[in-house]
Amino acid sequence: MRTDLCDLFGIDVPIFAFSHCRDVVAAVSNAGGLGVLGALAFSPEQLEIECAWIDENTGDKPYGVDTVMPMGHIGKETGLGKKGGKEDAIEFKKLIPPEVTAWIETVLEEYEVPRLEEGYERDPSVGGGNAGLLGWTEGGGRNHVEVALHHERVKLLVNALGPPPRDIIELAHQHGVKVAALTGTVDHALRQKEQGVDIIVAQGTEAGGHTGDIGSMVLLPDIVDAVSPTPVLGAGGIASGRQAAAAMALGAQGIWTGSVWLGVRESDVSPLVKDKLFHAGPRDAVRSRSLSGKPARLLRTAWTEAWEREECPGTLPMPLQYMACAEAQTRIGLAARKEGAKARELLGMPVGQVVGRMTEERSSAEVIYEFIDEFVECVAKLQGMLDAAETSS
Ligand SMILES: Cc1cc2nc3c(=O)[nH]c(=O)nc-3n(C[C@H](O)[C@H](O)[C@H](O)COP(=O)(O)O)c2cc1C
Repeated sequence: MRTDLCDLFGIDVPIFAFSHCRDVVAAVSNAGGLGVLGALAFSPEQLEIECAWIDENTGDKPYGVDTVMPMGHIGKETGLGKKGGKEDAIEFKKLIPPEVTAWIETVLEEYEVPRLEEGYERDPSVGGGNAGLLGWTEGGGRNHVEVALHHERVKLLVNALGPPPRDIIELAHQHGVKVAALTGTVDHALRQKEQGVDIIVAQGTEAGGHTGDIGSMVLLPDIVDAVSPTPVLGAGGIASGRQAAAAMALGAQGIWTGSVWLGVRESDVSPLVKDKLFHAGPRDAVRSRSLSGKPARLLRTAWTEAWEREECPGTLPMPLQYMACAEAQTRIGLAARKEGAKARELLGMPVGQVVGRMTEERSSAEVIYEFIDEFVECVAKLQGMLDAAETSS
């Protein structure tokens, strides 16, 4: 399963694993792939702690950091979101219309979610992320990049929702760090290449999280052809060796995976949500704007359904939607701890259509080894078809 990217990063297999959980990132890098830590939900201070932990737990293995600097978000043209700090958060919050706040409260009441107690201090194990979630602005992303580049074994910087600004790419290159960016269309892939991105992640609509509407089978070869010779990682709908082999057959130099790591033993996803994932099918992974305002594939829950109702005032543009919902997510997480709580119906997370293949907990290393075994078996089968054709001719 070796490609040029293995030599570029000093890894055994071109399996790139996105996760918000440092234990998964470390486990994948230790097993020979490249773990990439999603920085979005962390404050810069917390990201520093997470990277230091990974440094300590991965020997000399490389890893990556993923930031989210969207090409467009509300207020960007007026400079809002440039700093990524509390001042920006206050300004953004003023833009949240009261009818949306009221709608969220209606849904929470319906599912018996109590208010937070006075003086509640955020528990990082509960949903709700980096409360204001200014990781979803250029300023928030820049703060993350600064932290990431201080860590020597960060060898890959990845950006979602568009190419990172050119100065960030140059800065990464000065540190000897490669830059990748996710895309769901050929046009965006070409723009990323022009901006100086080293590796394009072609992510099909099957993927968990923010996603476009073109399937991997069509998107991947189109992007490979358009940006050649820039290397491309196939993403979206890849959770097995056969799917990895298909991506390589379509021209990818490696695979970029997300959903499959949610169910692994090292993942910090709560047992309740893991159980929901293990019982879900591909049609339970729906595209919804209810998380961030942009279409993202999420586990279908009472929360995603509520935002589809006729009486719902509609979702808000990024980054307001999450800011409007962050406290609600924390409240849902807390309420759902109670056995039999109605709030459990609201509990979910981003996940892709491969959720149907996730049925039980395995270790991250087991997942990597299964990827390799099945990939080898699949390619040998294809080789058998060539051999058979040769003998019959
Ligand atoms: C829970 C979850 C959160 C995600 N968050 C991000 C993110 O913050 N940044 C990012 O670049 N991609 C994010 N993604 C997308 C992944 O990087 C990856 O492209 C996607 O999961 C690949 O498709 P798959 O889910 O079919 O494996 C997320 C995916 C999931 C499942």
